[in-house]
Amino acid sequence: MTTVSVSDRAAHDLKADALVLGTVAGERSAALAAGHGLPSDAERHLSAQLAALHATGKAEEVLTVAAVPGVAASRVVLTGLGSAADGAGAGVGDEVLRRAAGAAVRSLKNAAKVVVALPAEDVAAVAAVAEGAALGAYRYAGVRGPGKDTKGKTAKGKAADEGVSAVTVVTGQAKDKAVKAAATRAAVLADAKAYARDLVNTPPNLLFPQSFADSVKERSSAGKAKVTVKVLDEKALEKGGFGGIVGVGQGSVRPPRIVTLTWAPAKATHSVALVGKGITFDSGGLCIKPPASMLSMKSDMAGAAAVAATVFAAAELGLPVAVTGYLCLAENMPSGSAQRPGDVVTMRNGTTVEVIDTDAEGRMVLGDGICLAAESAPDAIVDIATLTGAQMVALGARVAGIMANDDTFRDRVRAAADTAGEAAWPMPLPEDLRPQLESSVADLSHKGERWGGMLTAGLFLGEFVTEGTPWAHVDIAGPSFNEGSPWGYTPKGGTGFGVGTLLSLVEGYAG
Ligand code: BES
Ligand code: MN
Ligand code: ZN
Repeated sequence: MTTVSVSDRAAHDLKADALVLGTVAGERSAALAAGHGLPSDAERHLSAQLAALHATGKAEEVLTVAAVPGVAASRVVLTGLGSAADGAGAGVGDEVLRRAAGAAVRSLKNAAKVVVALPAEDVAAVAAVAEGAALGAYRYAGVRGPGKDTKGKTAKGKAADEGVSAVTVVTGQAKDKAVKAAATRAAVLADAKAYARDLVNTPPNLLFPQSFADSVKERSSAGKAKVTVKVLDEKALEKGGFGGIVGVGQGSVRPPRIVTLTWAPAKATHSVALVGKGITFDSGGLCIKPPASMLSMKSDMAGAAAVAATVFAAAELGLPVAVTGYLCLAENMPSGSAQRPGDVVTMRNGTTVEVIDTDAEGRMVLGDGICLAAESAPDAIVDIATLTGAQMVALGARVAGIMANDDTFRDRVRAAADTAGEAAWPMPLPEDLRPQLESSVADLSHKGERWGGMLTAGLFLGEFVTEGTPWAHVDIAGPSFNEGSPWGYTPKGGTGFGVGTLLSLVEGYAG
């Protein structure tokens, strides 16, 4: 875990492996962003370097200068904040700061201690800098397999680079209680996102329903705050009438699980249920995917990872809100025992569903998970899932879709996403698409036509919510997994998307 602290000492006096400063787009070349507090010789040196390097100060531009006179840190990392139009200058936007801090820290090699001095004027901005820096420090921790540890990349004789272990954010308000709390929260959030990223990045031969459950149990016993973990195994699922997840999991030799994680502080007056899709590998089942589409399908459990990470984070922060996470874990595989198109299964709430396409498995496991969540009558239910390719067609790889049975609640989730710097956009659940879910042999068909595939999936899930409970569905098929190059604080692979949104949402029930 990367530690995060705040300091009101002069940035150039702090001993570190690197000092991160901001640059803004200037007239000829980039200029140092305001508020660095450097002595004039250091400032002159860096300004000359910026000119010589033809720096632009644009977002994602990261330049490193070694041995700057008057600076105690051995390196200065200059990270672009863009122009005033991008939110730099008078009051840089929080997400601009988060990304710039992340890009700078992500660029570092062989640096353990980093000081970050970006123009952050209020608590939210300091929080953003701290979060971005801590998130940029992420390295895939290697993988924990069943009974064995596997290293992702072997060291091959290279000296190990342990990564950034400590971030210090420079701010004039370092003694302010709220600023200190923001630093703590940033460390907890980054650690939670790192956990979600690790789970997503773990190869699917090593992460399967039971090993996912084991990982959650292990994290709960390692943590200081009390999260209760319960595991429903395949027998319990069958007995409990969870026909959706049992059907999806029946083709795999690694049986399904529903894991519940509960943080229930005595002082809580509100309760939130979070339901995550946890397909540890989605081959498509008998409706098998082509190889290229299958390659990234180890990430089909990113919703469950975000839910687990959020419950732990809420507990670590001691939030006065009851939070229960439901992880719907299954492996979708083709085999002699696999589910068939045409099968009819009975879901937890008694609804019968005709299976049309075994690759539309996510809604089947989530339907059961939503039923279970609804049984405890929480104040609200949010499910989060890598549910449809249609989400990516509609919104691309970086923006999640939010659907809900209640516009006010949908806006509330959207606002939480905004606060967290996670891009999300409201999507409708049009009543006129509902007839597509009618079946001649069961209560429901689980799949509609191709057009509006994200929306019919959402409509299907809505069938399992009890009347009157606010519910939102967040489709993160795109933003949960970065197949391209790293950017800002987002690494390649698992992104941890959703943890920030869900944590902000839960925090909103605290006050
Ligand atoms: N896990 C996929 C959705 C997905 C696709 C996530 C790409 C991330 C990236 C889901 O289970 C799926 O296969 N959906 C099908 C649904 C269809 C069969 C109705 C799809 O989107 O094609
Ligand atoms: Mn699928
Ligand atoms: Zn899937």
